[in-house]
Amino acid sequence: MLDKLFKKKDISVILNEPDSSTSGLKRSLSATNLITLGIGAIVGTGIFVITGQAAAMYAGPALTISFVISALGCVMAGLCYAEFAAMIPVSGGVYSYSYTTMGEVLAWFVGWILILEYLFACSSVAVGWSGYMLSLLDGWGINFPDQISGATFDHLKDGSWVWTGRMINFPAVFIVAIVSSFLIGGVKQSAFVNNIIVVIKVSVILLFIGFGLSYIDTSNLVPYIPENTGEFGHYGWSGIFRGAAVVFYAYLGFDALSTAAGEAKNPQKDMPKGILISLLICALLYISVTTVLTGIVNYKELNVNAPIALAIDRVGAGLAWLSPFIKLGAIAGLSSVILVMMLGQSRIYYSISKDGLLPKTFSKVHPKHGVPHNATIFACVITALIAGLFPLHVLSELVSIGTLVAFTIVCISIVVLRKTQPNLKRPFKTPWVPFIPLLGAAICIIQMLSLPWSTWSRLIGWSILGFIIYFTYGIKHSKLNNK
Ligand code: ALA
Repeated sequence: MLDKLFKKKDISVILNEPDSSTSGLKRSLSATNLITLGIGAIVGTGIFVITGQAAAMYAGPALTISFVISALGCVMAGLCYAEFAAMIPVSGGVYSYSYTTMGEVLAWFVGWILILEYLFACSSVAVGWSGYMLSLLDGWGINFPDQISGATFDHLKDGSWVWTGRMINFPAVFIVAIVSSFLIGGVKQSAFVNNIIVVIKVSVILLFIGFGLSYIDTSNLVPYIPENTGEFGHYGWSGIFRGAAVVFYAYLGFDALSTAAGEAKNPQKDMPKGILISLLICALLYISVTTVLTGIVNYKELNVNAPIALAIDRVGAGLAWLSPFIKLGAIAGLSSVILVMMLGQSRIYYSISKDGLLPKTFSKVHPKHGVPHNATIFACVITALIAGLFPLHVLSELVSIGTLVAFTIVCISIVVLRKTQPNLKRPFKTPWVPFIPLLGAAICIIQMLSLPWSTWSRLIGWSILGFIIYFTYGIKHSKLNNK
């Protein structure tokens, strides 16, 4: 029994499995597509909402340092992802890597955690999109019916669930359906739509940085590191570190790229480029936006839902023209995050199903579009349901813990694989192994430990459900164990 549970897939077997050219997935993504997909997945709620709140509550203008620290942690994980994605360029990302290093049951567990991450990331961003869209419609004088503009259920502080009196969050369901229809049309088409969205959101951010620079009042940036209030995490260096853990969310998404390695034209060279360059560009954008934002508005006033819009209002007539563009940028930005995370989610179902651990139907590839259409439809239905029924705060807290578990596993797996299979062809190598991967894993573990018990208990519940599915279905249908 234990043999079965921990049976590992040989890397050569994975690489020789009918690859994308014969199994139907099309290899159509270029290096530029991968970089824009990376930016598409990364830039979203983090920069448009969380920046202001994190500056106001934790780090003040020194949130720029938080962004640097958080970027370092992500780059360490990103380097490990790049090594894996170049070495094992197949769909499924970390799930596929784990199958070779830790054996079937743990690979299933990792796949199950990735489903948690992408499912809740998509649904939480869809709820965020709904909020922005409703406020835009409101600004145009269009009143959307309240009955269909919010979550059906809410989770109260005392732990109970209540019915909100609403039917469903319709705009959230709507955006998930639209994005899924693009994905079913083909990955090339999706990459094209993503490129347009990325151009819009990055232009809007650059406009804000470019025009905002001249309105910076340097007195807002002094003191750069506000004095700690005596409470851990409230300004000072502890606030900078707390800020780093909070803005970590803003960098998530680059990992979703690795799930599309099976569709890259030249994955060995281009996956590392896609992951690392998109991460670097986003870090630069974030640091610049934070500088301009905290330079225009005093950090104490930034605890609002739309901090960039507030900064523009503060400048007054000089920048008023930019205001509608910012809303448009945010809406576009959130759409592409949903797009890439949905892509990741469907590719995880596809890869797990190819190994027999989920029903076969999820690995069917559409003969014309070359995408796993059933996996995409399933991802759409389940994401839309969750986004339509539940509130943002319940959904978003599950995203970080899922990602952190995945990052930790990737970092540790790099060290394990260098020891157990030193001769594998590695087109891209993480530098300073084991120092970088172990430091990356340590940073992730520290961040996980700082999350509340309620998040941990949901992670445990989700894991138990995963093991029930594996022991009642996966183990009986596993291709590796039933050859
Ligand atoms: N990084 C993504 C965002 O900020 C999840 O929305």
